[in-house]
Order: sequence, then structure tokens, then C-alpha cells
Amino acid sequence: MNIDLSGRTALVTGAATGIGRATALALGAAGANLVVNHLGRPEDASAMVRALEQTGGKALAIEADVSNATQVKRLIDAAEAHFGAVDILVNNAGILLEKPFLDMSETDWDHVLNTDLKSVFLCCRAALPGMLQRGSGCVINVASELGYLGRAGYAAYTTAKGGVITLTRSLAREFAPTIRVNAIAPGPVATDMLDVSVMSPEMIEKESDIPLGRVGRPDEIAATAVFLASEHTSFYCGQVLSPNGGALMA
Ligand SMILES: NC(=O)c1ccc[n+]([C@@H]2O[C@H](COP(=O)([O-])OP(=O)(O)OC[C@H]3O[C@@H](n4cnc5c(N)ncnc54)[C@H](O)[C@@H]3O)[C@@H](O)[C@H]2O)c1
Repeated sequence: MNIDLSGRTALVTGAATGIGRATALALGAAGANLVVNHLGRPEDASAMVRALEQTGGKALAIEADVSNATQVKRLIDAAEAHFGAVDILVNNAGILLEKPFLDMSETDWDHVLNTDLKSVFLCCRAALPGMLQRGSGCVINVASELGYLGRAGYAAYTTAKGGVITLTRSLAREFAPTIRVNAIAPGPVATDMLDVSVMSPEMIEKESDIPLGRVGRPDEIAATAVFLASEHTSFYCGQVLSPNGGALMA
């Protein structure tokens, strides 16, 4: 399948590591200009820009906390000023919190909901006007299979990801046919996020019923993002694709 995104600009949030990094590299390999958003990872983000430029692409790193409205506006303004547009927005940045529900503070709850859900609202609110003005655009939100399933000890994260799925569907309806809004709900993927949680890849493989018998790789999620950014998905609207090894079949 030939995917050519040349002439288009993609902004990936949380693009310095894991799924965001793999997605930015894959979109760049397909020809897109890249805005590499990061928070507190200037060296990783610069390395990303160099890697993208070495393969002939154009890239720009911008630090911004995507849970902060002022910083998000600055991020989108800077991206549009540099490349002229944001055609593809990948809302990928996120954090995971494992904590028994009754131990969770209001601060914990707000931090996770702001980072994982409010950020999608803020980035879409800032980027969609430009897409509407130009008459096209594509939004890809990274949710999680846990947004469907829920999980004990992960109430804030699973609530946020369930919200991302519903927000995707509402925005898809509100902005169709000009802007296509879809989501990805990955199963467990080997990234820093799993390594720092109690859900290590090894534990998940042992305890979860994953028909494919392993956790995923970031590049397997990135491939889904490139597909959703492409014209091959021109009839997709408000869909949630689920690269998850078969752990959840819905
Ligand atoms: N790894 C998994 O098993 C898995 C499964 C399903 C969904 N996801 C989702 O995939 C996305 C990427 O996660 P990952 O697994 O690559 O983990 P990761 O920790 O490598 O990536 C998350 C990135 O988001 C950035 N980030 C965090 N808060 C931010 C903020 N306020 N502003 C800007 N950037 C911020 C981090 O610095 C990091 O680079 C997340 O939304 C996560 O919930 C991951």
C-alpha cells in the first residue's frame, strides 16, 4: 500500500518517546513535515528532529505542556507559523497512574485527566480552526483498550481514555465531512509507560489473555496512525482501531 503524505504537516504530541516517537518517524517516512512536541525532553526531541532531517524530511521540536491552554495555543501557533498549517494532529501524549481508588487525591485525578483527556480538547480546539479554514484535516487520538475495559487500580487513566473515545466520536460527527477524526485504542505496548508501572510487559504477557501471546511494539501502533492519516481511510469517521494482539475483540 503506497502512502504519500508529502506536502502535509503532522503534529505529534509527546513525540520524544515510545508510541509518539515511532508515529512521528513513520509519518516522516511517509513524507510529512513533522512537529515534534515534547515536555522536558529537549535532547530526545532534538535527536528526533535530526533523525527526521537525515532522511530528507523537515521537522521542528516544540516544547509544550499539552494540559496547559496557553502552552497549547503557543504550540499550534508556532507550528502553523513555521509550516503554514497543521494538517494531521496526533494526540498521543499521556501518563499512566496506578493507585488504589481510595488512595487517589484530587490532585492525582486532575493530573491524569488533564494530561490524558483535557489535552485532547485543548489541542483540537487550537488546531481545528486552521483545518476548517483550509477545508481539510485529520485528527488521530490515542486512547487505550483500557478505555473500554476499565482496570482495578487505574480509575483515572481508564476514565480519561474512555473520554478520549467518546470525544473522538463527538468531534467526528461535529466536524465531518471537512475534518476526519478517528482514534487508536492500543493494547499493551512495550514503552517507558509499561516499564514504570506495575504492569510490566512480562507480567502482562503472563497474566493477560492475548491471543498473539505478546505485547505490541510502538511501530505497530505507528503503522495504524499512518494508515488513519492516509487517503486509504477517507471513509473512516469516528472509528477506533484496535491494535491489541486480540486481547479485546469488539
Ligand atoms: N504503552 C502502552 O501499553 C499503551 C497502551 C495503550 C495506550 N497507550 C497510550 O499511548 C500514548 C503514548 O504512550 P507511550 O506508551 O508511548 O508512553 P511514553 O511514556 O513513552 O509516552 C508518553 C509521552 O507523553 C509525554 N507527555 C506526558 N505528559 C505530557 C504533557 N503534559 N505535555 C506534553 N507531553 C507529555 C511524555 O513526556 C512522553 O514522551 C499515551 O497516550 C498512552 O496512554 C499506551
